Amino acid sequence: MDLLLLEKTLLGLFAAVIVATVISKLRGKRFKLPPGPIPVPVFGNWLQVGDDLNHRNLTDLAKKFGGIFLLRMGQRNLVVVSSPELAKEVLHTQGVEFGSRTRNVVFDIFTGKGQDMVFTVYGEHWRKMRRIMTVPFFTNKVVQQYRYGWESEAASVVEDVKKNPEAARNGIVLRRRLQLMMYNNMYRIMFDRRFDSEEDPLFNKLKALNGERSRLAQSFEYNYGDFIPILRPFLRGYLKICKEVKEKRLKLFKDYFVDERKKLSSPKSTDNEGLKCAIDHILEAQQKGEINEDNVLYIVENINVAAIETTLWSIEWGIAELVNHPEIQRKLRDELDTVLGQGVQITEPDMLKLPYLQAVIKETLRLRMAIPLLVPHMNLHEAKLGGYDIPAESKILVNAWWLANNPANWKNPEEFRPERFLQEEAKVEANGNDFRYLPFGVGRRSCPGIILALPILGITLGRLVQNFELLPPPGQSKIDTSEKGGQFSLHILKHSTIVLKPRSV
Ligand code: HEM
Repeated sequence: MDLLLLEKTLLGLFAAVIVATVISKLRGKRFKLPPGPIPVPVFGNWLQVGDDLNHRNLTDLAKKFGGIFLLRMGQRNLVVVSSPELAKEVLHTQGVEFGSRTRNVVFDIFTGKGQDMVFTVYGEHWRKMRRIMTVPFFTNKVVQQYRYGWESEAASVVEDVKKNPEAARNGIVLRRRLQLMMYNNMYRIMFDRRFDSEEDPLFNKLKALNGERSRLAQSFEYNYGDFIPILRPFLRGYLKICKEVKEKRLKLFKDYFVDERKKLSSPKSTDNEGLKCAIDHILEAQQKGEINEDNVLYIVENINVAAIETTLWSIEWGIAELVNHPEIQRKLRDELDTVLGQGVQITEPDMLKLPYLQAVIKETLRLRMAIPLLVPHMNLHEAKLGGYDIPAESKILVNAWWLANNPANWKNPEEFRPERFLQEEAKVEANGNDFRYLPFGVGRRSCPGIILALPILGITLGRLVQNFELLPPPGQSKIDTSEKGGQFSLHILKHSTIVLKPRSV
């Protein structure tokens, strides 16, 4: 059976070499493709550039080939854009043409072939899903309804840390507690639910399945089957695991959260706008026949993927930079004390009065961009970009990290210096008003969660700095800020141990 498969594969490979060579000859004549390293048949540039196309490796290639270049990853075309002008073309001017998303065999499993919102192509389904998700998740009304919950979650982190003597002595891995906080912040919005402690079994089940989904989707292990379709039969085992994780996860969302909420929400409680949580709105859309039950579960899946870890990574980076820059931490604390009064805990509306806190957040998102290449875009049809022909269904990566860290566009970009956003970059906002700075993207497929992420970041970092002196562990002058990832997300390599000394008020 396997020998037969191997024989078929080799034959297929041979045929693919011939076809690829002929096509590339024909295409070379007809198309004006973007520059890039010279591809070889079947593998393209894959063996030259390797698997790890993180923001730094792609920056090195941009230095060589320019603001737009093409990589052939087996059968797939990958176009990388690294200039503000071309980013504007992709995300704004030609936002419709480049507004779809690529998927692959693994993402097809996790999204039910695009029944979700984040990974679906640009079109009717996406528009409907984004509209249905906007009212329950992405408006200022939601912020005003849930900010008390976020403030109370941050207060509970502060309380728990104060109760733990180890925090002030040798330090703790604060991230673990903050992860619980982020789950609570989002599960309050989705289901009006929270988890009591890091030991909560349901929280741990959820965390494990979400972690497994991210690992499986972001692994390089399945690249061969993705880049060279003829090798796909060898992925059978991998895809089976993906299917199992996906099914377990959706079942968990359904059994423990969606169905529980259905039981709870009597007509009386859903009459009251104030008591409605996001899933009530989503279930209403299902009842009206706008979406089906699977779509409901994929909305829950998308929020789990898009909202929790992204914000957590950014909080983690912000803390790390504040620990390693005590003078910036002090300046932030002074602002909080002066504007709010010592001991008066920051709340969401205070953010407007705290320009230095806003600058610290912007600088964290610039230097330590959580999604450095945005979520990959795609053109469904053949397109033009920067004077080049872009083959249909190319994966388009915008190297947003390099746009925000290119010394040609920023003063000493490698420095963590929030002041830049109060001085020479004072007009730059995180909402994409400047194409050099796109931590949330911009345009049709930009992050709708920005409206929640910024206040959550502000409340969390603000409360920590108000209540504690954040320090490296004894014997260390700095914490390790080595990076991990970069192709899908950029996080800190080692979750840091932080000493939190309560301030004497
Ligand atoms: C600091 C935290 C966050 C960062 C840095 C971030 C960043 C991003 C980026 C870069 C994109 C892709 C933009 C593009 O492809 O052009 C994105 C998409 C998205 N984000 Fe966020 N995000 C954050 C938090 C959130 C939160 C809290 C939510 C939800 C509550 C959320 C929901 C989404 C969704 C649904 C999309 C897909 C939009 C679409 O395809 O139409 N994000 N985010």
